[in-house]
Amino acid sequence: MGLIERDRESIGAIEKLRFSPLVATGGEGCHLIGEDGSRVLDLSGTWGAASLGYSDPALALAITDAASSMAAASILSSVSEPTIELAEKLIEAVPGGLKKAWIGHSGSDANETAVRAIQHATGRDRFIVFDGAYHGGTAGSMAISGHPSQDHATAHEGRILIPYPDSYRPAGDDPAAHSLAAFDRALEEAGPETIAAILIEPIMSDGGLIVPPEGFLAELAGRCREHGILVLCDEVKVGVGRTGDLCAFEGEGIEPDVVTFGKGIGGGLPLSAVVAPAEILDFATCFSIQTTAGNPVCASAGLAVLRRIEELGLLENARDRGEQLRSGFRRLAETHEMIGDVRGRGLAIGVDLVRDRETKEPATAEAAKVIVRSLELGVAFFCVGKASNVLELTPPLTLAEAEVEQALEVIDQAMSDVENGLVPNSATAEYAGW
Ligand SMILES: Cc1ncc(COP(=O)(O)O)c(C=O)c1O
Repeated sequence: MGLIERDRESIGAIEKLRFSPLVATGGEGCHLIGEDGSRVLDLSGTWGAASLGYSDPALALAITDAASSMAAASILSSVSEPTIELAEKLIEAVPGGLKKAWIGHSGSDANETAVRAIQHATGRDRFIVFDGAYHGGTAGSMAISGHPSQDHATAHEGRILIPYPDSYRPAGDDPAAHSLAAFDRALEEAGPETIAAILIEPIMSDGGLIVPPEGFLAELAGRCREHGILVLCDEVKVGVGRTGDLCAFEGEGIEPDVVTFGKGIGGGLPLSAVVAPAEILDFATCFSIQTTAGNPVCASAGLAVLRRIEELGLLENARDRGEQLRSGFRRLAETHEMIGDVRGRGLAIGVDLVRDRETKEPATAEAAKVIVRSLELGVAFFCVGKASNVLELTPPLTLAEAEVEQALEVIDQAMSDVENGLVPNSATAEYAGW
């Protein structure tokens, strides 16, 4: 049996989100290596987690060193230097008064912990959340999300959904004003003193890689401040250098009260963090504990990621390669009618596929086919959005100029093949996606 069959037989569907028959038996740089030794350029970067790509030598060394002299397996009941150092560095990255850090395993546990701690520390029990936002896959993080894949989950009793401003498919003439009006209405109806925090994504990623209109988040943060409502910024997907700033909120000119990190901070290892005012993270002991959280191997990986971002100039690379990719896609849009919109910042990029540029009807089936065909031609990526029609590119921050050109050539070919009816429905039938 090959790996695909063994995977089908052994691993439950509930933890799969598959778009193509992608198999990885190894990895090097921005490439995944398949069973037969074939190499695939990975523009997803494992949903953004592989911030340094695969097998970065400095990351491998840091992990190996930490694992070969394990300084306990946790910070629960002992003190560990790499974890302290990581916490110090993350605190430094977030502006504002006295902050502390909580270290975890995933974006999900970070958001869940942040919300629970905020609720208990402030005594306020309502949270404003954007419709379409994905904040995690655990019960608590699903409860304060708004993504359609989580419709089965029990929502937090105090969750209030408001629309994220979408400039491509605007609700009304002015999407920012529309969202701000919904925010004001929520305050009026619930009473601002009951609202603990608003959860924001500096770029809404799984909801469709939507970049908010300029000034929107700053205006929103200002309104929150007036009412003592905390701003929780979820940097799990687009933080840690992806937008060309270490934290994506820097590009919005806001100073969030609470920041959650995940994915890219671990460079592929399970690592997350919450940075928040000390009074929130200190309000009780033993309130959000997991035995292996803060273990020195994952903390050392986080330190190596931060070090490599600096050493290799990855913020600048994210900006440059992002611009190169976006202008390449705009060029492709001249020949491929299916490209409705190209958007993003740095190496967080969305390509919105449509059936018709006038109606902007989402090209869901076509997106699935472009993904499968691109993989056959050697480039991997996935899609996001409420209608699963937005190609999402969150490649390693180490992506090279020549790799961008290679990717654009492949996607150009894949789109032509889909347009010419060369990719049958059967090619995507097996992949449920979101
Ligand atoms: C913005 C955002 N927050 C949180 C999460 C949850 O992270 P994880 O799946 O690592 O728990 C994700 C995952 O896609 C995400 O995109």
